[in-house]
Amino acid sequence: MQISAELIKKVAEAKKVCVLTGAGVSAESGVPTFRGGGNSAVWKGMPFDQISSARMVKENLPEVWEWFDYRRGVLKDCKPNEAHRALMFWESRLRENFLLVTQNIDGLHTQAGSRNIIELHGNIQRSKCTKGCRLKYEMLPTEIPHSPDICDLCDAPLRPDVVLFGEMLPEGYFEYAVEFANDCDLFMSIGTSAVVYPAASLAEIAKKKGAFCIEINPEETPASYLYNESLRGKAGEILPKILQ
Ligand code: OAD
Repeated sequence: MQISAELIKKVAEAKKVCVLTGAGVSAESGVPTFRGGGNSAVWKGMPFDQISSARMVKENLPEVWEWFDYRRGVLKDCKPNEAHRALMFWESRLRENFLLVTQNIDGLHTQAGSRNIIELHGNIQRSKCTKGCRLKYEMLPTEIPHSPDICDLCDAPLRPDVVLFGEMLPEGYFEYAVEFANDCDLFMSIGTSAVVYPAASLAEIAKKKGAFCIEINPEETPASYLYNESLRGKAGEILPKILQ
């Protein structure tokens, strides 16, 4: 794949960078995506937006846990790939002027060493109280099924600390991402189908403010028209080339 000299220059000279990642950035680590590649997740005949929903937590929490423990099992052997590492390296150059906003709950960016990161949709290796107290519980990736089950403070059942369909994003996280996207000079979107809002609106915000916008995705997306350059290929192959 040919990468233009202009793009390389924009990346090298960017002073404030906002990156949005989606499931595609973890595809080369073996994590299934939601859409694209014919990999749509179905669990016991239920599409993922039904089993991963606020309603299912109320109606059948044990089944929600079964689904999330299954996904934690899939993740057990997945390691960060070249794309995760390249983003960590980029952050190490720009420090507080680099923000990684991820829709992924797999924790692979953090495992790769990224620190200036917003996990917009939560983290699959954490649980929280169904009563809504502020306690959160880290789970060991190897501990499947999950543990613990009950909140120490409220004695209420725990649930995965992820944003489910029908739920709001955690307060303040998206607002911070918007502030950063408003003020960056380079925005990059990697491995997202760009159909889930509000995450998908970050590119629109950055573009409006005049940031140079780059998309990395093997497929065209509904947002492709927004980008100054769309690079069609795999994140783990393209990112290291751009950043070397
Ligand atoms: P999707 O599964 O919707 O999209 C994954 C995208 O990654 C597709 O556009 C693929 O073409 C692309 N892709 C596949 N392999 C790739 C590779 N090696 N390199 C780069 N791109 C690749 O995932 P998201 O956009 O992340 O939300 O989905 C957004 C949200 O929808 C998820 O966070 C999840 C889901 O509902 C919640 O669970 C709340």
